[in-house]
Amino acid sequence: MACRDTSEGQTLDMARGDVSMTLAPDAVRSMFDRIAPVYDAMNRVMTMGLDLRWRRLGARAVVRPGDSVLDAACGTGDFAVADLRAGASRVVGLDFSPRMLERARRKAPQIEWVEGDLLALPFDAGSFDAATVGFGARNVADLRLALRELRRVLRPGGRLAILEITRPRGPLRAFYSLWFDRLVPLLGKALPGGSAYTYLPASVKRFPSAEELAALMGEAGFANVRFKLLAGSIVALHTGEAA
Ligand SMILES: C[S@@+](CC[C@H](N)C(=O)[O-])C[C@H]1O[C@@H](n2cnc3c(N)ncnc32)[C@H](O)[C@@H]1O
Repeated sequence: MACRDTSEGQTLDMARGDVSMTLAPDAVRSMFDRIAPVYDAMNRVMTMGLDLRWRRLGARAVVRPGDSVLDAACGTGDFAVADLRAGASRVVGLDFSPRMLERARRKAPQIEWVEGDLLALPFDAGSFDAATVGFGARNVADLRLALRELRRVLRPGGRLAILEITRPRGPLRAFYSLWFDRLVPLLGKALPGGSAYTYLPASVKRFPSAEELAALMGEAGFANVRFKLLAGSIVALHTGEAA
């Protein structure tokens, strides 16, 4: 069956069971505005609490004491808080969802919270020593542009960490499919504003593989790009240095 556009800016490919569903930026923003009240709780439940550890690992991989750090697509701010705890002296958290930012602000008033677009970062070139992006790369409309923007605002030699869900290849595949494709959307439907969690499995399926993301980082001007697969390869942590 052919694709159809919905009123929320979604494109649904009915023949593929909606797996190629993509959302326009305005729809992504309002989806996260709606999810904001349940976002942290859903993260803890979906990852059995491991998400905080993954962000801590990401922060430690790129943040050095005294760094000025950008956490882009910061959401409710957990990665920005991990950056601060890793020793950054200044942390800026940027997101385009006002409701997600409201929650972030309450968590850590000492962090600078900025409402803005990752695809047009409101910062001068070379403003930061390090940048982090947690589970946000999957949601941007133009990943190449996002990576170029992150490269632009980092000083030469500045470090980037991207934490993102990937599709496992090994023995966890069947469990992952049951958990992610069936249980997470059901769990989301049971929560107020959580029906958008049906979008999550689709957004993971259309996101580049870990190898492809590493290649895209290289194209965008990052050197020494590496990735580590975590939690039985359900999550990938990519790092690179602005060349
Ligand atoms: C899955 S949440 C991740 C939040 C947080 N980084 C974390 O580790 O939990 C994705 C976030 O990306 C934000 N986002 C998506 N596209 C964006 C864009 N173009 N500019 C700024 N924020 C964006 C959404 O508003 C949302 O808060």
